[in-house]
Amino acid sequence: MRIIALVTQKGGSGKSTIASSLAVAAAEAGEKVIVVDMDPQASLTRWSRARKDTNIGVTAIAPGKLPNALTAMEKAGITLVVIDTPGTDSIASASAMKVADLCIIPARPNAFDLWASETTRKQLRSLRKEYAFLLNQCPPAQQSARVEQGVEALEAMGGLLNPLIRSRVDYQEATRLGLGVTELHASGEAAEEIRKLWSSLKRRMNKGKAPVRKAA
Ligand SMILES: Nc1ncnc2c1ncn2[C@@H]1O[C@H](COP(=O)(O)OP(=O)(O)OP(=O)(O)O)[C@@H](O)[C@H]1O
Ligand SMILES: [Mg+2]
Repeated sequence: MRIIALVTQKGGSGKSTIASSLAVAAAEAGEKVIVVDMDPQASLTRWSRARKDTNIGVTAIAPGKLPNALTAMEKAGITLVVIDTPGTDSIASASAMKVADLCIIPARPNAFDLWASETTRKQLRSLRKEYAFLLNQCPPAQQSARVEQGVEALEAMGGLLNPLIRSRVDYQEATRLGLGVTELHASGEAAEEIRKLWSSLKRRMNKGKAPVRKAA
């Protein structure tokens, strides 16, 4: 069983959006997936209520109960756990970081998100956890200076995941309807992006390899 946590103390960077679509894409690729909602805002608990398909369990777990709950999930044959965390430095985020095999730090290409990513990265380094950055909500234009700057900053801080995730209406529509983007428009660009993201995460975890990190 693999555990992926979406973490960053920056609110609104796309943790819940990516967690939900990623969970769906992984399930479509054959994983037995559970989403753990550790955010008191309960975004993904609400998402699951809007969802008709029952293939992905969404469960809210208190930080103290996380390790036992994960053991039970593994026994039940779950192969992938996706943990969504609050957008604040909290006990919930710290607990998720501790149990994760890989932490994804989503950041939008703006200075505030990039600065916040640095703080989260420091936390993960001190915990000696595997992590990788994900640039989310990139503007549609292929070559934007803001995106270039984000790519450079995150590559300098550590591994940046491929692909970049663009700002697309599909992400917002899918969330509203309790879907992943691959279910909303299976052949859409957002779907393609998220499938690629799952493939690249899977490759990374299968290799059991640390994300590419340059010197701090
Ligand atoms: N790639 C994207 N394209 C378009 N909209 C997006 C994308 N990613 C996120 N959003 C939108 O940005 C907003 C914030 O996203 P989301 O709620 O997933 O962030 P979060 O990190 O979970 O926030 P919080 O820290 O408050 O839990 C939402 O309105 C969501 O629909
Ligand atoms: Mg959220």
